[in-house]
Amino acid sequence: MQKSVLVLHGPNLNLLGQREPQTYGGASLDAINRGLTDEAAKAGYSLQIFQSNHEGELVDLIQRHAPSSAGVLINPAAFTHTSVALRDALLAVARPVVEVHLSNIYRREPFRHHSYIADIAVGQISGFGPDSYRLGLSALMHHLNTVTP
Ligand code: DQA
Repeated sequence: MQKSVLVLHGPNLNLLGQREPQTYGGASLDAINRGLTDEAAKAGYSLQIFQSNHEGELVDLIQRHAPSSAGVLINPAAFTHTSVALRDALLAVARPVVEVHLSNIYRREPFRHHSYIADIAVGQISGFGPDSYRLGLSALMHHLNTVTP
């Protein structure tokens, strides 16, 4: 059966392309999602992709869709730095997680240096613009193919 990956985008990422392009680049979220879908298909994976500006909705999406997914690719955006609830939801579903950020969060304000997700993730990719997603998906699929039974 084809494996599926849950892709989650957190708050304000619906504005990619218009939002602070000097920090987040010019690609729209739709363009990023199309690229991810193509990459996944080439590797024999399907994607379930969602964006939400609401913490509770992201928790609901994790609870609803992670159980039928082999792994989770997530850019928690601002909730990276604040959300115990997202961390707990990801722990609850017990799926391999890869955390991605367009910007290098460690080169930015000190409040962005802490992630509530990083230490429960397989790994984190930060700072490569839209390519962070592609690199993160590739790393997650590699992990799922080689490490997860
Ligand atoms: C972000 C980094 C976060 O600090 C910020 O709140 C975002 C986007 C990134 O992709 O670089 O909204 O997750």
